[in-house]
Amino acid sequence: MIVLGIETSCDETGIAVYDTKNWEAGQAAGLGILGQALHSQVAMHREYGGVVPELASRDHIRRVLPLLEQALTEAKLPLGSIDAIAYTQGPGLAGALLVGTAFGRSLALALEKPSIGVHHLEGHLLSPLLGETAPRFPFIALLVSGGHTQLMAVEGVGQYQLLGETVDDAAGEAFDKTAKLLGLDYPGGAAVSLLAERGKPGRFDLPRPMLHSGDLDFSFSGLKTAVLNQVNRFSPTNTDDKAQFEADLAHAFVESLVDVLVQKSAKAIKQTGYRDLVLAGGVGANKQLRAALNARALRDQFQVHYPPLQLCTDNGVMIAFAGALRLLAGHQDSTSAAFDVKPRWDLTAA
Ligand code: KG4
Ligand code: ZN
Repeated sequence: MIVLGIETSCDETGIAVYDTKNWEAGQAAGLGILGQALHSQVAMHREYGGVVPELASRDHIRRVLPLLEQALTEAKLPLGSIDAIAYTQGPGLAGALLVGTAFGRSLALALEKPSIGVHHLEGHLLSPLLGETAPRFPFIALLVSGGHTQLMAVEGVGQYQLLGETVDDAAGEAFDKTAKLLGLDYPGGAAVSLLAERGKPGRFDLPRPMLHSGDLDFSFSGLKTAVLNQVNRFSPTNTDDKAQFEADLAHAFVESLVDVLVQKSAKAIKQTGYRDLVLAGGVGANKQLRAALNARALRDQFQVHYPPLQLCTDNGVMIAFAGALRLLAGHQDSTSAAFDVKPRWDLTAA
């Protein structure tokens, strides 16, 4: 089955063509990626310091058709060879979701093929299966994106149990807010990570919120406030001094956040007795987090699995893949022409 995937939940337009043949034959899932095209709106939103929803929707409208053509060209397939269409139905920005959903549903109607609305986080969560060392069910998923921070127990496709989540800011949000405090452009996760590499350890002792809360929940707004307090307290004597201050503070921030994510993930592994952990979502691209998880996995004897790096942030491939697995499990949209989007959508209810 050849599945077209459409992602438009936030500020990336992603289209991909995925063939389930290899997966169904028990081979590596990544072999099924036939074509993919992506456009990031990051540059457009940068001057506003964050995503402007109306601009995002309009840009998705401009991009979907050319990206579809690009993905089909890469796959060397005509539109008529698509067997089913998967699109992100939620969660995300309502207007942005509407673009992909309306596009996907109309295309499915025109081609007389089935369609399926995909939960964006399910796309992230299953994307490590596309990597080189794919996990087997069941596993623990640490989902860390711009809007979510969750630990899930994944027993199979569609079988997700929420173990813990953030009570305030998401990990990516904490990265982006810290970036802003350090004068870095939006979205600043990768830039903070890079800056932190130049920082000296030990200069700041930032809090590790909820580390000992006894549960698997997270909180990152206090950490961001601690960064803000340090920024307010600091008066630089020269530019070198300021640059070192920012690098040292970025280092301490990353260290605290990573420490909490790693310790809670290890706790989830211990609590469930599972042996595999997958890291998914944009913050999953973070070097320091990957290194710390690898070290902890070695110590506690569990395996960590990552999606291919380019599939960590939003993309069409993960939506095509998650949709394909759902379709193979017998799910699909009703044939009624009516459709809706789900800007807020609980994954455990998907
Ligand atoms: O999953 P994603 O692409 O979009 C959402 O669904 O939210 O995640 C975007 C988030 C942003 O907050 C961005 O700053 C963060 O992922 N991010 C990173 C890195 N690359 C992206 N955070 C830390 N280190 C990185 N290397
Ligand atoms: Zn995402």
